Amino acid sequence: MYDLLIKNGTVVTHEGCGQWDVAVKDGKIAAVGSRGTFADAETQEVLDAADLLVMPGLIDPHVHIMHPFRDRFAADDFYSATVAAACGGDTMVLDFAIQWDKSMDLSETAEHRKRQFEEGAVIDYAFHACPTISEMETVEQVPKLIEAGVPSFKLYMTYSKQGRMSDDGVIYEVLRQTAEKGGIAGVHAENDAMCLFNTELYRRNGWNSPHYFPLCKGNLVEAEAVNRVVYMNRAAGGNLYIFHLTTEESLEVVREARARGERVTAETCVHYLVLNADCYDRPDGANFICSPPLRSPEDTEALWNGIRQGLISVVSSDHCGFTKELKALGNNEFAGTPNGLPGIELRLPVLYTAGVKSGKISVSKLVEILSTNAARTFGMYPQKGTIACGSDADLVLVDTKQVKTISPEVLHSPVDWSPYDGMELCGFARTVLSRGKFVVRNGEFCGERGAGRFVSRTIDR
Ligand code: URP
Ligand code: ZN
Ligand code: ZN
Repeated sequence: MYDLLIKNGTVVTHEGCGQWDVAVKDGKIAAVGSRGTFADAETQEVLDAADLLVMPGLIDPHVHIMHPFRDRFAADDFYSATVAAACGGDTMVLDFAIQWDKSMDLSETAEHRKRQFEEGAVIDYAFHACPTISEMETVEQVPKLIEAGVPSFKLYMTYSKQGRMSDDGVIYEVLRQTAEKGGIAGVHAENDAMCLFNTELYRRNGWNSPHYFPLCKGNLVEAEAVNRVVYMNRAAGGNLYIFHLTTEESLEVVREARARGERVTAETCVHYLVLNADCYDRPDGANFICSPPLRSPEDTEALWNGIRQGLISVVSSDHCGFTKELKALGNNEFAGTPNGLPGIELRLPVLYTAGVKSGKISVSKLVEILSTNAARTFGMYPQKGTIACGSDADLVLVDTKQVKTISPEVLHSPVDWSPYDGMELCGFARTVLSRGKFVVRNGEFCGERGAGRFVSRTIDR
């Protein structure tokens, strides 16, 4: 006897689409069969998925929850951010255990992050360990974290002034250690010295408005850092993840590295695929400050090509829920404005509309970049990221017909704006199951605070 049968839908995985029915038992996918394989009498509940796509639950491997700015925090907490994620079709998010408090070591920081999630999360979660101290301690903690099921790291190559940067010595050693012990080293790749020099130059010239932001942090700022870390990764024999890649030049570096057979995985974010630097000339341009900046339409096109060619494997939200009030603290100057864009709930409809509906990518590719590749890269596959016997019954049923105009009212987040406000989108999550339990039913959130679980991960050497 199954707990749930999902019938009459079109199942989509990274391998293709099919008219399959899916049987769920004890939170796992128990069986997958062609339409009509299972009888209604074999199950407690039947869910009719006619006219819907049935995808593996989506995984957003790059979100920032309660990210600080000065003495304030981004608006959403572990509950509200994961509610919004679930309503957007996510069944797992990965955020960051950033060592803000330097009196705590990296393992204590990770334990603290786990407790914060435990209290609020409505879906499963994990986080990348993010050291901010460029000392031996950081490198010594790598094996300990890997053993504790946290085998992924984020190293900031910039933000030295905010005490967040890792120096190249530590980056190289983390690349080496993760390669040796089984892990992955991710980077926020921007050349810190160029960021600092240019920011001062622009300040002296009075070039402070959002318009100047993508010029101040031009393509070279990112591409140089990507090039440097790819070189280090080659020497270390490492496993490198590039968070939020935005430029054609960086993509070329990744292309060459992968052609040489090096382990380099690139991620971009939804906003770099559908928005460009023109946003900084809008009256609300300061709201769009994020690092790296939004780029040119040519870069955007290159990123879509990168996805089609498999050079970009993952598309995240890089969600960071700063409200309009917090964004305004920068007084319309890019240097003082909190960095980051909200978007945790909209990866699926934005990419369905701009990617699949517009013919840029197939629906299987969509599943790959929104779920499967994150699971593979960060050590959750095949527990997550696919629809196969034995996998967690994390599923999203997608309505491709309903069209909504985006505004804060149609979203579930306390953040009072979104970069996609006013866009007409389709491809919304209708129903979401987390380990076989409904967290969204017919578009309504019905999950439970604290029901999400920490996902312990392992990555092959
Ligand atoms: O601008 C971005 N990406 N903000 C997110 C938080 C950070 O600073 O990495
Ligand atoms: Zn970053
Ligand atoms: Zn980020």
